[in-house]
Amino acid sequence: MTLQQIYDLALDLGIQADPRGEAGVKKLLVRNKKEHEEMTAKQKKYFDNESLKNPYSDSRILVGDSKLEVKKVIAGIDADASEVLLTDRLNQKGEKIDLLISHHPSGHALASLHEVMDVQVDMFAAAGVPANVAHALFEQRMQEVKRRVGPINHGQTVDAAKLLNIPLLALHTIWDNMGNDFMKKHLGKKVFDTAGEVLERVKEIPEFVEATKGKEAPSLVSGTEKSRAGKVVVGFTGGTNPSKELYIELAKAGVGTLIEMHVPEEALKELKKLHINVIDCGHMAADSIGANIFLDALEKKGVKVIACSGLIRIKRTK
Ligand SMILES: [Fe+2]
Ligand SMILES: [Fe+2]
Repeated sequence: MTLQQIYDLALDLGIQADPRGEAGVKKLLVRNKKEHEEMTAKQKKYFDNESLKNPYSDSRILVGDSKLEVKKVIAGIDADASEVLLTDRLNQKGEKIDLLISHHPSGHALASLHEVMDVQVDMFAAAGVPANVAHALFEQRMQEVKRRVGPINHGQTVDAAKLLNIPLLALHTIWDNMGNDFMKKHLGKKVFDTAGEVLERVKEIPEFVEATKGKEAPSLVSGTEKSRAGKVVVGFTGGTNPSKELYIELAKAGVGTLIEMHVPEEALKELKKLHINVIDCGHMAADSIGANIFLDALEKKGVKVIACSGLIRIKRTK
């Protein structure tokens, strides 16, 4: 496959798994196009043209020619200069890796992380929060995230990859959408009586079985096993966590149990006060789910995969 074909496949799968549905994503792309058309020539100069077809600014080709033929990839949850060096070292030992794929983004895909949080407005609306309230609170939260991410050294990984000529692809929200969709399907339509029952169902997933062996099992960080489950909501996608204020809105909307990849301490304190049960799945194992579903699709197309950087590689294809 070429690097472009890999990127296009990721985009297709990411859109298919998007919580807004394919129609919701199309609507967003139409809105981006309209905004672009109405821009001045000066504004257009700095416009990210890729956003006209890819709504996930945190999922992009960061280094490499799109026509590059890719036979083998190395994929991990994080890639910084160490993974770039690791790839180069493995190639020195004869591995012939053509592409490094990282889940957590770097470069402009990290600087624009806040832009993908828009999806959470729809997720919160689906959970019962009035869309106008979710939208207003997310506008604030996006600015907080922008300020938090702003000072990070975004260029470090990309610079290392360019110097060593290692093609680099970031697939963040795309994989998170896939993981989120998998979780929702895994929970299915079943009505759970207790938070403990939800936790047991979550722990059946092979990535979490592996994580449990490493003492990183999903656990209830708010509520007890006997707590009533109430409405169960999965929060595996949308860039990063919502704010404390947004969690309060979820409680008002009647959400009983939240399933998260990780929860900030400040938000957790609030969730405990609100009596919302929280299952903390464990970050690396949770991020591995979307990664694995995508990497299975790549392997099916004949691309070889090496896992690195915290990725718990589980294959679902036979
Ligand atoms: Fe993730
Ligand atoms: Fe993550």
